[in-house]
Amino acid sequence: MKLTNRFVRSATYEGMAAGDGICTPALREKMVELAAGGVGLIITSHSFVSPEGRARPLQLGIHSDAMIPALRTMTDAVHARDSRIVIQLAHAGAQADPKMTGLAALDPRLWKRRTGLSPVRWSPPISPGPRRPSERRRGVRRRPDSTAPRSTRHTDTC
Ligand SMILES: Cc1cc2nc3c(=O)[nH]c(=O)nc-3n(C[C@H](O)[C@H](O)[C@H](O)COP(=O)(O)O)c2cc1C
Repeated sequence: MKLTNRFVRSATYEGMAAGDGICTPALREKMVELAAGGVGLIITSHSFVSPEGRARPLQLGIHSDAMIPALRTMTDAVHARDSRIVIQLAHAGAQADPKMTGLAALDPRLWKRRTGLSPVRWSPPISPGPRRPSERRRGVRRRPDSTAPRSTRHTDTC
């Protein structure tokens, strides 16, 4: 990624998304303001990748394809000001508030107690690909990436 300068706006939750996580015009304009002000790279607020992993109200979401059009409009507007933007993917795990999400929080300890399974087995068996020679030498084991299909769909938005 090529940046016009080294000014980076750190990930900052604004609470400006819509109730369902969609990027609102107000949030888009906030990003445009930063870009127009000369920020080389903007990092969005933490954005929930799954409905039960939401941490805050009015948090930006990237949990469904319905989020894409508004996110694309935001990134296009930022690009038009010669700036770049990346999204911070987040899952609140045990910190999620079930009262807010209406869903059970993913707590590794409860999961293990209920199922007897170790949380590392949550990931579906997608092959992470061959290990590099240096990883083989060091005995590094790569975990499958359960977000792979979703992240592939979103790579063109930054
Ligand atoms: C209001 C507010 C919201 C923040 N939201 C996030 C966030 O969504 N994700 C994140 O990684 N950090 C978040 N942070 C932390 C900031 O990105 C940053 O790391 C922190 O403010 C320290 O920055 P500094 O070292 O420049 O002072 C937030 C900070 C503040 C003050």
